[in-house]
Amino acid sequence: MNPRISILLSLVVASLVGGCVGEPSKEPPIVPIRNMYNQPRYDSQSKAPFFEDGRTMRPMVEGTIPREADPEISHATGRTDDDAEWLLEIPAPIVERMGGMAALVERGEERYGIYCSVCHGDSGDGRGVVALRADAIGASAMLPPTFHDERLRSIPDGQLYAIIKNGIRNMPAYKHSIPQDDRWAIVSYVRALQISQASLGETAMNNTEQEQ
Ligand code: HEC
Repeated sequence: MNPRISILLSLVVASLVGGCVGEPSKEPPIVPIRNMYNQPRYDSQSKAPFFEDGRTMRPMVEGTIPREADPEISHATGRTDDDAEWLLEIPAPIVERMGGMAALVERGEERYGIYCSVCHGDSGDGRGVVALRADAIGASAMLPPTFHDERLRSIPDGQLYAIIKNGIRNMPAYKHSIPQDDRWAIVSYVRALQISQASLGETAMNNTEQEQ
């Protein structure tokens, strides 16, 4: 072949190829062997005419639980099996599988430090950094209560658990970030905090009484 023509040809080929590489294109990529690149599927939050309600994201069938979930419904809800009342205590099987009460409280202390103390304070007095900030800007509705009053001292363990799981009024739910057994661990630590402050208060009172 004439060398000039071959140079010209290679220039043309180079510019054709070069024109494609790195350029954005709306066309689907050319894939000669398709393998399983393109499969019919639904995108999340998109419409699906197949289903009557048109949702691609299917709600859970009533009465089913995720495979990895605890089959003991009361462990998950903090309520008795007949849903009549709160569990009064942390379920024994959970204490056992978390390595006993001491290990559970220790785990709870760590998790409390991560998830709760920013608002509720290290001692549970409701004076965490977020609360102080809320106070400073006058957002009093965002102030968490102290754990050391009669009402919160006497709520059942299951109710405390459910507050962590589902949130309450202005407090957000933590079920997505704190797994079930860790929620119970935090309950055990909040109880430990409450006992520690109660005994402090009582000791202080006793001392005052003695002084008088
Ligand atoms: C973002 C801040 C924030 C975090 C984090 C937070 N809370 Fe709260 N919590 C609140 C606020 C605000 C309230 C008061 C809600 C209300 O009464 O509107 C509250 C209320 C409570 C109450 C009292 C509920 C009642 O019956 O009055 C408990 C118990 C509690 N939180 C436990 C926890 C525990 C345990 C954690 C950690 C897993 C946690 N909270 C994490 C802000 C927070």
